[in-house]
Amino acid sequence: MKSAIVAAATVAAACICSAETTRLPAPDGDSGVTVAQALKARHSERAFADKELSPELLSGVLWAANGFNRPDKRTNATGLNKQEISVYAIMKSGAYRYDAKGNALVKVCDEDLRPSVAGHQPFAATAPVSLLIAADVSDPIYTGARSTLSNYDAGIVSGNIYLYCAANGLATVCRRSMDNDALKKALKLPDTTILHLNHPVGYPAGGEDAAVGAPSVKTERNREAMRLFEKCINANDLELGRRLISEKAAFNTPVSPTPLYGAEGYLSVVALMRRSFPDVQWKLVDMVADEKTVAVQWECSGTFNGDAPFAGLQPNGRRFSTTVMNFYSFDDDGKIFKDVAATGIAGILQGIGAIK
Ligand SMILES: Cc1cc2nc3c(=O)[nH]c(=O)nc-3n(C[C@H](O)[C@H](O)[C@H](O)COP(=O)(O)O)c2cc1C
Repeated sequence: MKSAIVAAATVAAACICSAETTRLPAPDGDSGVTVAQALKARHSERAFADKELSPELLSGVLWAANGFNRPDKRTNATGLNKQEISVYAIMKSGAYRYDAKGNALVKVCDEDLRPSVAGHQPFAATAPVSLLIAADVSDPIYTGARSTLSNYDAGIVSGNIYLYCAANGLATVCRRSMDNDALKKALKLPDTTILHLNHPVGYPAGGEDAAVGAPSVKTERNREAMRLFEKCINANDLELGRRLISEKAAFNTPVSPTPLYGAEGYLSVVALMRRSFPDVQWKLVDMVADEKTVAVQWECSGTFNGDAPFAGLQPNGRRFSTTVMNFYSFDDDGKIFKDVAATGIAGILQGIGAIK
């Protein structure tokens, strides 16, 4: 019952436009790690955590599978550019056709068809979503020597799904086996549609470490996020900040009696600093990362020649350069939700009233 509610909430969280169509969040074209890191991490995984995929990751994996990356062409190549592949998201709350142009899920069946996708491999039904790769071969070109063309196209979609999952710490496996007849009947698909492959997708059971031998893509993702965070604070880039900082993140700062939230909150503190030190910059000198936390050593420098006082002092044109240490905590979606700064000597001086 609990997971049925969560499954419905995942789709609901993605903004319902009509009873049958659910708009997905815009795919994040900058998420994940480098292609080489994703290739190193790619593997088949058959055990899934009992947890729904976030709407962002669901949107991302569908886009990677068969989305548009140009106005009329897609992330996946197809023979003769026929674009005959469709992807279905098979979930507890029903079966949905991915509308790549509209970035939406269109409900085609109310039933939980995951057992039909799983067939004789029950593990597959435990993933929160299975992506079903279908090909419409009604075009007469799919005869003779070209009768198998859509097989290759399906394989390319599968490769995209594997890489997206590897880059984002998700578990998946490409599967040929499934109950074809039951699925085609439930999805009301004609004989000219071939169900080629399916991909159960979910968070790995037991956390990312459970994937024996797999490098930690979450750790790499967090490191990459910190490199982008450096750009974000130095360029005061709110859009980038929104991608990196959870909107639920609460920051306690001396400048406000109540916590400041999200990217807006964080960057408003940086903006205050910039009023006193217009050229303030943070240089990321070193970092130590794991799947949940990144510790960063910053070199922070600036000139006290702005128009706002700082710690009770009026701007005096003097320049500072100092080492700052922060611990950043990351949530499951790879966003910063907590920042703890080492106050060091400043904390002592503040505590005894030497500085404000
Ligand atoms: C076309 C194709 C069909 C597959 N079908 C299944 C399947 O039905 N069930 C399954 O558990 N794995 C299936 N696999 C996954 C392979 O077993 C897996 O890729 C292989 O063992 C290599 O492991 P790796 O992906 O971790 O490199 C399939 C893979 C491919 C490419």
